[in-house]
Amino acid sequence: MMIKKIVPFIYLVMLSVTTVVAHAEEEVPLQHISINGTDYASLQRGAEHFINYCVTCHGAKFVRYDLLEKIGLNKQQIEKNLILTGSKISDSMVVAFSSRDAKEWFGVAPPDLSVEARVRGADWLYSYLKGFYQDDSRPSGWNNVVFPNVAMPHVLYALQGTQVLAPNADRQHLTKESLVLEKPGKLTAAEYDQFVYDLVNYMSFMAEPNRETRIHMGYGVIIFLILGFALSYALKKEFWKDIH
Ligand code: HEC
Repeated sequence: MMIKKIVPFIYLVMLSVTTVVAHAEEEVPLQHISINGTDYASLQRGAEHFINYCVTCHGAKFVRYDLLEKIGLNKQQIEKNLILTGSKISDSMVVAFSSRDAKEWFGVAPPDLSVEARVRGADWLYSYLKGFYQDDSRPSGWNNVVFPNVAMPHVLYALQGTQVLAPNADRQHLTKESLVLEKPGKLTAAEYDQFVYDLVNYMSFMAEPNRETRIHMGYGVIIFLILGFALSYALKKEFWKDIH
């Protein structure tokens, strides 16, 4: 009897806790981008950035190099310019070193990024890659507005430059406005935005390579349903015409 009363109560408490936690996580305002799975130039640049800057630590084990043929690259281009590890074109994007080493160096193993864009979303990734700032209290020397106390160092700092917290930043509620660029990097702010956009655009494609086909199919299905409805309505009218 008692149990019957307690179980729904516990359930309710858990539900409200998860709601509160989910809300707390959402609090960091994210910067919005619209990904474009048909912009091949952007996707190709993004693939190159991903392979040059991320696959050193992160794998994408569900992604084979030949997937890049879908964004307009040919075999020779992929083999010559993008495969840096001696892998074959039919191999998947695996990391250069073992995850045990990485765990020793960073304290956390860098997760596989194959479907990261589906897990976190494009806006989150974009804001994350723009959200690193210098923080000497962290082992890596870096912290992040979107992912507080992240173990990943800012691997793109040579491009973006060094951001620090503004003197008046509210440490409890950090936003992108809390950051100032103290030392510029190789890229201007606009170029870095484009760099990160291309990278996230590619990561979104890689996480869902058939997105474009699916969207087209969706339109097809909707048109089919509308036609089907029109046809059955006309039939119904025809059938009932003499009965009324
Ligand atoms: C020097 C190694 C290293 C490199 C290079 C690196 N990362 Fe990371 N990354 C890490 C580590 C370690 C973590 C785990 C951080 C944690 O959980 O605190 C991480 C975490 C992440 C996460 C968060 C994963 C999650 O959802 O918890 C994302 C996203 C990410 N990295 C993206 C990238 C991208 C994109 C690049 C290329 C521009 C990149 N990383 C390059 C080490 C690296």
